Amino acid sequence: MKILGIEHIGIAVNSIDKDAPFWKHILKISHGGTEMVEDQGVTTDIYDTGKGKIELLESMGGDTPIGKFLENRGPGIHHVCFEVEDVTKAIKELKELNIQIISDEPTIGAEGYKVVFIHPKSTGGVLVELAENP
Ligand code: CO
Repeated sequence: MKILGIEHIGIAVNSIDKDAPFWKHILKISHGGTEMVEDQGVTTDIYDTGKGKIELLESMGGDTPIGKFLENRGPGIHHVCFEVEDVTKAIKELKELNIQIISDEPTIGAEGYKVVFIHPKSTGGVLVELAENP
């Protein structure tokens, strides 16, 4: 697989309303958009530096991946996302190498990207997302 760069850093926050102003008004990073990703139970709020994005993640409820993360670890960096050319091919390669991935098929993430997550057990402790630009 070919890694094309860091696409974004995902940050779990308690409240987008409360936490977004730092990224928007203090750092003045260009706002990409706010979007509900229903099957992940998350609202994303994206800022684009031009060289990698910041993805704020607010849980839609307690029983969601971000809800559980916030409950266990509190707000903070949740994952690092790398852009790849072909996420389906990447999944196949990772499975052949016995890397633990969260799902066998890509799902549709924020901004319509095709994404997959790699389990922190296989990466040295960091949740890694791979994303293919639609
Ligand atoms: Co992400």
